[in-house]
Amino acid sequence: MRKKIVAGNWKMNMSLEEGLRFARSVDQYFREKPAGKAEVILCTPFIHLPGVAEIVKSGKVALGAQNCASEASGAYTGEVSAFMIKSTGAQYVIIGHSERRSYYNENDKLLNKKTVLALNSGLKAIFCFGEVKEEREAGTHFIIVKRQLDEGLFTLPVEEMNKIVIAYEPVWAIGTGLTATPEQAQEMHQYIRGLVKEKYGNDCAKQMPILYGGSCKPSNAAELFSKPDVDGGLIGGASLKKEDFIAIVEAV
Ligand code: PGA
Repeated sequence: MRKKIVAGNWKMNMSLEEGLRFARSVDQYFREKPAGKAEVILCTPFIHLPGVAEIVKSGKVALGAQNCASEASGAYTGEVSAFMIKSTGAQYVIIGHSERRSYYNENDKLLNKKTVLALNSGLKAIFCFGEVKEEREAGTHFIIVKRQLDEGLFTLPVEEMNKIVIAYEPVWAIGTGLTATPEQAQEMHQYIRGLVKEKYGNDCAKQMPILYGGSCKPSNAAELFSKPDVDGGLIGGASLKKEDFIAIVEAV
């Protein structure tokens, strides 16, 4: 059976102290009451990584960054490389979040480069993509998603695909309170799994975790996760409230 995952994306929130306190309390919860089938990942800002790595070292909660540099090392002021992220103890990195794509002009070619660097550094990549509102309304969402996957991800050899988590995040649902219906999510996730199967074969498609992201909250998580191709969620806003985040994990 493939892995179920709930990943919290803190985005640019919390001071160092607040983040460590929050991570300590989430970790303590899952040490006392293990998350069962779901793998729990906290994707924190860079500054929290070493501290949170220390807190979660018992292994009940995994750790990820939210971005990495598109170069391996060198004179890139202000950047943080995949190798540096790995050295903190993190296991994951989010690549291609829609906020990176839209505010920082990250395109599929660049994101492909970041994904390769992340895997080469020993990280697993949570590769995000999804259509914007106008594309959904124009009915081009399947074409857009296929292009994002073809250019961003599907250059990888099949042996590398077991280090990938796919996160479908319709941009119109992120932070807006508008959630894709469980049917819309399932329709797209099934399509995505079909694309993985076409490119990499049935075994790869069957084991690939495909997460949903976009206004996922305790009130809609169980229904979204009940769909056969929805393997968990990438959670923004609701991952900043401990009770909500735990409720979403428990919905798996
Ligand atoms: P949201 O964000 O849950 O706040 O909509 C999801 C995401 O950006 O990953």
